[in-house]
Amino acid sequence: MKKVYIETMGCQMNKSDTERMLGMLSHFDYEETQNPKEADLLMINTCSIRQLSENKAFSAVGAWGKHKKQSKKDIKIGFCGCVAQQKAREIFKRAPYVDFVLGTHKIYALPEILKRIQNGEKVCECEETNKTEDNKAKDYEINRVKGVNAWIPITEGCNNFCTYCIVPYTRGRERSRLPEIIIKEVKDALNAGFKEITLLGQNVDSYGKDFKDKNYRLAQLLTDLNALEGNFRIRFVTSYPTDITDELIETARDLDKVCEYFHIPMQSGSSRVLKAMNRRYDRETYAKIVEKIRKMVPDVTITSDFIAGFPGETEEEFEETLTAIDEFELDYSNVAAYSPREKTVAAKWTDKFIPEDIKDERFQRLNKKVQENCLKSNKKYVGRTMEVLVESFYNHKGKKVNTGKTRNFKTVHIPYDQDLTGQFVNVKITGTKTWYLKGEID
Ligand code: SAH
Ligand code: SF4
Ligand code: F3S
Repeated sequence: MKKVYIETMGCQMNKSDTERMLGMLSHFDYEETQNPKEADLLMINTCSIRQLSENKAFSAVGAWGKHKKQSKKDIKIGFCGCVAQQKAREIFKRAPYVDFVLGTHKIYALPEILKRIQNGEKVCECEETNKTEDNKAKDYEINRVKGVNAWIPITEGCNNFCTYCIVPYTRGRERSRLPEIIIKEVKDALNAGFKEITLLGQNVDSYGKDFKDKNYRLAQLLTDLNALEGNFRIRFVTSYPTDITDELIETARDLDKVCEYFHIPMQSGSSRVLKAMNRRYDRETYAKIVEKIRKMVPDVTITSDFIAGFPGETEEEFEETLTAIDEFELDYSNVAAYSPREKTVAAKWTDKFIPEDIKDERFQRLNKKVQENCLKSNKKYVGRTMEVLVESFYNHKGKKVNTGKTRNFKTVHIPYDQDLTGQFVNVKITGTKTWYLKGEID
């Protein structure tokens, strides 16, 4: 057996691609190692959402390049993922020790690439295909990270072209994977013991819009998955605010396996900034969607993403983001300072860029607001009994705890007396910290 080390950066889409690449590699006698020093093949699966993520990718392979030069000349290095898709052959100039560059559209070219690099060829596979690779996916295993939750992509790519975002350039146009392939992958994951299925996509709620021969949307997929046998949970991320239909909300409410959880990035609380971002809703529209979901789905958790310091954002507009988090009682949000990305529209608005110190200060204030609201949201559940799916156990401040999630995506710590990983347990919530609830088995 040969050994491969893969470093994965970025979102779950990349993690899912890594699991697929490891699956393919296992057909060619590669096994995974956690130690880059003993690997015959080193691969990095990169993210390009912000400049910092891109820089990290180059510094990681830089270290591998040195290792190759100094001690292990015959190792091969592969540069994959979103930065690869975006920069293609340019990678060879910047990192000449890289043997192959593999973009996000062509991960199933990996077996062929392995053959070609053996005789010293440098290979770049980065053309956009804009088709799903479903026909190839079924020929290979998926080496899923062992655990409780299996991630299953249902759409790839994005058509929205938000003015700050690089994803449409790194992942191509939106395309839905076939229901029969998704259902098969879910069944395989359940048979392998996974207890939670998370359906993945940049905009899961536009799933199926591109099917020309059938009317089959996310609500239908959830219904078909819900009918599969076994005790398991279903989640779906990420939802684009205006693509959430009443049918989807009702389906999520009525199906017993589908959890009470929506991730609906708002990005900014200011309607003017939202327009500049090319988001297709304003503050009021977003408010209405959240209000409707809260009314229809009891105990629902709604989380969001926000960007601080988008070009041209005034102090008043930034404050509208802070008030949005309060007003819509957003349970948790991911926050980021705006980072200009090559090819995107907003990156050209250099005269409107917000100085780094102000951007950073807004980012800090946003983080504080998210913390406050997360704690406020958690407090609602103290005293209640909730079903927790235990994901793992670990040492928390010197004490062992089992940790898991409620249906509505709250993290719960339970004192450890045995490993409960993979079990559904009823837990009485006894207290809360900012990011997690504390509880005891009921
Ligand atoms: N499809 C999802 C988001 C995918 S990208 C949606 O539409 O909401 C994940 C998050 O990264 C985004 O929600 C956004 O908040 C953040 N992000 C994207 N581009 C960014 C940039 N140039 N600078 C800072 N944050 C960015
Ligand atoms: Fe990026 Fe916008 Fe597409 Fe989300 S919807 S991936 S933020 S372009
Ligand atoms: Fe994901 Fe980063 Fe690519 S967030 S889609 S890995 S740019």
